[in-house]
Amino acid sequence: MPANAPEIDLRSDTMTRPTPEMRRAMAEAEVGDDVFEEDPTVRALEERTAELLGKEAALYTPSAHMANQIAAYLAARSGEEIWAHELAHILGNEQGGTSVLSRLLPRTFSGPESAPEQGWLDKLIQGTDDVHRAQPALISLENTFTGRVMPLEGQRRVAAFAREHGLKVHLDGSRLWNAATALGVSLAEAAEGADTVTVCFSKGLGAPVGAALAADRDTVRRARRARKLLGGGMRQAGIIAAGALYALDHHLERLADDHARAQRLAEALSAAPGLSAEALTNMVIAKTEPGQAPKLVEAAGAQGVACIAIAPDTVRMVVHLDIAESDIGEAGARITKAAESLKA
Ligand SMILES: Cc1ncc(COP(=O)(O)O)c(C=O)c1O
Repeated sequence: MPANAPEIDLRSDTMTRPTPEMRRAMAEAEVGDDVFEEDPTVRALEERTAELLGKEAALYTPSAHMANQIAAYLAARSGEEIWAHELAHILGNEQGGTSVLSRLLPRTFSGPESAPEQGWLDKLIQGTDDVHRAQPALISLENTFTGRVMPLEGQRRVAAFAREHGLKVHLDGSRLWNAATALGVSLAEAAEGADTVTVCFSKGLGAPVGAALAADRDTVRRARRARKLLGGGMRQAGIIAAGALYALDHHLERLADDHARAQRLAEALSAAPGLSAEALTNMVIAKTEPGQAPKLVEAAGAQGVACIAIAPDTVRMVVHLDIAESDIGEAGARITKAAESLKA
């Protein structure tokens, strides 16, 4: 661990470092030039990912961000509409890429689910033949959504609506592994109805780099060109793809442990003064008294526990591969101490 790293880092599941076994797999990876589609390890990862997600093909990308943006770029033409939740990562946390790169018009909704309500869909689809109106092209969903697992009914309903009206559905499944684990369904089932699916290897799975976009063969062929347009063609990428392959083999099953640990941490924190906490898959969302979240984060940091204030009264903690069972009790005790110090 680097000298300046917090002892218990709960900021994100992107903080994991490759395990010694993963590093060995990476060091020994067979490689080639992936821009020429000659890297056997990347090929193996893409085929494995597609198979897991029940899609025809997949493309390895440097990031989930890029996979999402490629999906939007391919699904809609300049000036067309993307429909997504106002908190969707693809809209708010990717540098406005859907507007900057694809020049799409975002139409947003709010609510507890990543999928829009039927009434919203029915209203928005009206008048699309009006000459003034931008044309809808893509509905983007997310699972897990802000850590929360989304029931599949919404996705099925949106997919049926999209098919009926000739729209595409993208699923930002950066944490689809967590969603499928929590729902107790296969990844293919969790991806059903989506034309394109992003998955990310460098979050809960603990690989150092990379994501994938899965879809039908023709879309993935076009996605390969779009990735090149964005400068995302990689050469001997098998080195990093091997980490992702290793993660699929060894770190998928253990995600249920992260969820159980998040649950235990939430229970411990709910007993702390001024806090209430809820576990959402691998995340713990703790509510503080108004305006106290940044102070709690600072006080926890002084105790060697790193977490993030996502609102003035909300702290987020994420459990991941580098958080051991013993860290949970320790984090609970230290954050409780931090909460007590704010009361003193
Ligand atoms: C839901 C979701 N989608 C996409 C991304 C983008 O991932 P990355 O920044 O690794 O490309 C993130 C990152 O945290 C995310 O949470």
